[in-house]
Amino acid sequence: MVGRVAVVGAGSSGLACIKICVEEGLEPVCFESSDDIGGLWNFNESPEPGRSSIYHSLVVNTSKEMMCFSDFPMPADYPNYMHNSQLLQYFRLYADHFDLLRYIHFQTTVRSITQRPDMCVSGQWEVVTINREGEKEKHIFDAVLVCSGHYTHPALPLSDFKGHEIFSGRCFHSWKYKDAEACRGKRVVVVGIGNSGGDIAVEISRSAEKTFLSTRKGAWVMGRMSSNGLPLDMTAITRINNILTQLLPKTLLNWAAERALNHKYDHRLYGLKPKHRLLDRRPLINDDLPGRILHGALVMKPNLAGFTESGVVFEDGTVEDNIDAVVFCTGYSGSFPFLPSALSDGPNGELTLYKRVFPPSLQQPTLAVMGLFQAKGPIMTIVEMQARWAVKVFSGLNRLPSKEKMLEVIEFERRRNMQSYPHPRQAALQIDYIPYLDFMAGEIGVRPNLPSLLLSDPVLWAKVVFGPCTPYQYRLSGPGQWAGARHAILTQWERVAQPFRTRVVPEPDSRLSTLCSPWLLTFGGTVIVAVLLSKYEIIPTLQGAAQILERSKIFLKNSWFTSLST
Ligand SMILES: Cc1cc2nc3c(=O)[nH]c(=O)nc-3n(C[C@H](O)[C@H](O)[C@H](O)COP(=O)(O)OP(=O)(O)OC[C@H]3O[C@@H](n4cnc5c(N)ncnc54)[C@H](O)[C@@H]3O)c2cc1C
Ligand SMILES: *[C@@H]1O[C@H](CO)[C@@H](O)[C@H](O)[C@H]1NC(C)=O
Repeated sequence: MVGRVAVVGAGSSGLACIKICVEEGLEPVCFESSDDIGGLWNFNESPEPGRSSIYHSLVVNTSKEMMCFSDFPMPADYPNYMHNSQLLQYFRLYADHFDLLRYIHFQTTVRSITQRPDMCVSGQWEVVTINREGEKEKHIFDAVLVCSGHYTHPALPLSDFKGHEIFSGRCFHSWKYKDAEACRGKRVVVVGIGNSGGDIAVEISRSAEKTFLSTRKGAWVMGRMSSNGLPLDMTAITRINNILTQLLPKTLLNWAAERALNHKYDHRLYGLKPKHRLLDRRPLINDDLPGRILHGALVMKPNLAGFTESGVVFEDGTVEDNIDAVVFCTGYSGSFPFLPSALSDGPNGELTLYKRVFPPSLQQPTLAVMGLFQAKGPIMTIVEMQARWAVKVFSGLNRLPSKEKMLEVIEFERRRNMQSYPHPRQAALQIDYIPYLDFMAGEIGVRPNLPSLLLSDPVLWAKVVFGPCTPYQYRLSGPGQWAGARHAILTQWERVAQPFRTRVVPEPDSRLSTLCSPWLLTFGGTVIVAVLLSKYEIIPTLQGAAQILERSKIFLKNSWFTSLST
């Protein structure tokens, strides 16, 4: 019988885990090393090493209706893509609403998590924490949810580049980047075209003398805006699209999607085009990058090859001199120093995880890792589902396959993903948004039952199948059902529209607009003229109309000939 659950970290994942534990009748105890909630989204000017770090201007790349928790829609007036500070505000609302703060021990760091000697029967863990006074404490827990984040340890591959020791400019990782102030009027190289690399290069290019964006692979770049200015993820992540991508040949889909994207800006012309196909990997989400290239403020360059004393050399042999700074947006390596090292048994020392959640080697499935994956959609909604699944497994309501079977599945999925992500470590991290959510939802019995929905509630069915796969879909039925889920789905587009209603443009009255349609005007006008003419007996109606028509024809013909002959 599972009772007490340790939650490591009070970022967005930790908060979701606390809430789910309480909902399922478990007793969560959360340890958070900082003094506040929000993790990555709690902006800090100078974060301590080992913590995630964001820049001032960071705006989310997933939209509010897609990234909110499944039973707590964001306030209707929030912008669809909000600033990082507003997302933190949302997490505060969530924590207040579900009264989560009382489960959190702030300024308490988890030092180690180890199996108890009787683990194989009890499933219990010993957790050692250290508090702000430096006091160590030992706790016993029935289960552990690891929510410590994985954008914490910057990967800075300086030694890969010849001559970095002699370079006189500044080199730093995006982890350290807060704003472009230090780059004003300078010549700057940004290395790496991930989401951070794109954002940072664009921002620097607004005040620097010149900004170079160096990329080994290139990227497909998509804006947050889809057609009609609607959020990209709401138009892309739908069940119907998911079905179509499984049915139609991938090459065809890639061809069509790349064509549409290149129609806006030709990726080859702009020096962006990658080797991989559009749908094979996550695109770069950036609204401004192509515009900066068009203005010449941002210059695309191939991979960095090395440094000179005052500049850099690229792989195509070109040299840029007088470089003041190089910003490495080269990503992070996840690190879980408090976990038993035996769990980090992947080919590159990474955690091996069944369905990105459970270490298959444990005697009892009482430890789960949250948020350690990459998806083409929002992270929070997936983590919430991971937590719902994990607590079901903890309490024995859902069972995992045998260790052998789990290892088989892990290997199969890694191989499959390696078709698009050749690096095994990257390949293991990838998940497909809807299929992954649906898998976990199936395990816990909350996957929307489409056939029965079609019969019982066809309007809702249409929204679920053809509309965005918003998280409320997983609260319609089954354990953890939320009475507001149906309404949330029916009103989701209203919440999308709400923040735009700051200058209300009256909608054309539909009756009036049919009346005003040009055809009706012409028709109506002719009738009125005919009536007037006949009423005042200027000419008998029908005959007169025919005569007018005939005369105007002749007039038109004549004027046409005159215009030709002059
Ligand atoms: C630049 C950037 C932009 C992003 N934009 C988006 C986006 O738009 N949409 C999206 O869905 N995702 C985005 N992500 C992904 C993002 O990581 C997740 O959305 C989410 O913040 C992950 O939350 P988390 O709680 O798992 O980790 P974190 O937010 O990193 O929180 C981890 C918490 O655990 C605490 N902690 C760590 N170790 C310990 C310990 N040993 N003991 C006690 N406490 C500990 C930390 O102090 C921290 O509070 C972005 C990531 C980055 C880097
Ligand atoms: C948003 O940005 C983060 C940070 O770079 C990235 O990990 C995530 O995959 C991005 N999300 C999408 C949907 O592209």
